[in-house]
Amino acid sequence: MSGKTILVTGAARRVGRAIAREMHATGANIMVHYRQASAAAEALIAELNALRPFSAACLQADLQDLEVLPWLVSCTVDRFGRLDALVNNASSFFPTPFGSIDQAAWDDLVGSNLKAPLFLTQAAAPHLLAARGAVVNITDIHAERPLAGYPLYCAAKAGLLGLTRALAIELGPRVRVNAVAPGPILWPEEGFFDSTTRAAIVAHTLLERAGCRQDIARAVHYLLEDATYVTGQVINVDGGRSAHL
Ligand SMILES: NC(=O)c1ccc[n+]([C@@H]2O[C@H](COP(=O)([O-])OP(=O)(O)OC[C@H]3O[C@@H](n4cnc5c(N)ncnc54)[C@H](OP(=O)(O)O)[C@@H]3O)[C@@H](O)[C@H]2O)c1
Repeated sequence: MSGKTILVTGAARRVGRAIAREMHATGANIMVHYRQASAAAEALIAELNALRPFSAACLQADLQDLEVLPWLVSCTVDRFGRLDALVNNASSFFPTPFGSIDQAAWDDLVGSNLKAPLFLTQAAAPHLLAARGAVVNITDIHAERPLAGYPLYCAAKAGLLGLTRALAIELGPRVRVNAVAPGPILWPEEGFFDSTTRAAIVAHTLLERAGCRQDIARAVHYLLEDATYVTGQVINVDGGRSAHL
């Protein structure tokens, strides 16, 4: 990946940061997108640039604002001269009890998990086509097997999974489009799952443990660099939880 450029959304913290670090270690330049985590984003690019000067930069944007999406792409190309890969990782996540779903929840969950990946990929497409690049969308095992209490998030991720397959058609044969569907990797910071629920989720994985953020990063790495004959696919990285959900 040396000399190539990857834009990773929601990359300042947690899983996105692990993806940025993993892909930077391949020799790629990384554009770190963030929304609120400015200190974390600055710290990450300082870390990456210390390893390899001028190899990382960051951009702030709320992905609900469609007008900034072409700007994210053009800034990345201006900074690094090309765009080879896009990782749609940014996501909002919260419960939406059916009967009280409102427009704001729709805008937030569908906006970050489905709408922004579509329009960002559309903006990036000319560069990805020129580079014969790749897209990885981070979905969720609950895209295919919904989680009770989270109908809107699950539907948005299901849309992102469908979009992955549809864009593999639209962008083929030059650009590969795939998804990684995490299972239990990092618990939400908002504490949506209590300790009993967490224990039940982990017990339901075939590997009887939660994963770690590097498990997702390594799957993204495989899809971006090694999976040259793979497109329109999803890899469940979930300790086997989806095998018997
Ligand atoms: N963690 C898990 O176990 C797990 C399980 C299943 C699926 N996933 C999926 O894996 C990916 C990474 O998981 P994660 O837990 O690391 O995600 P996360 O911490 O919940 O969110 C990642 C980032 O998304 C950004 N974001 C949210 N809404 C945004 C918006 N409207 N505009 C711009 N950025 C926005 C936030 O950036 P700022 O902090 O800068 O505001 C946040 O740091 C997500 O797609 C998630 O759905 C994770």
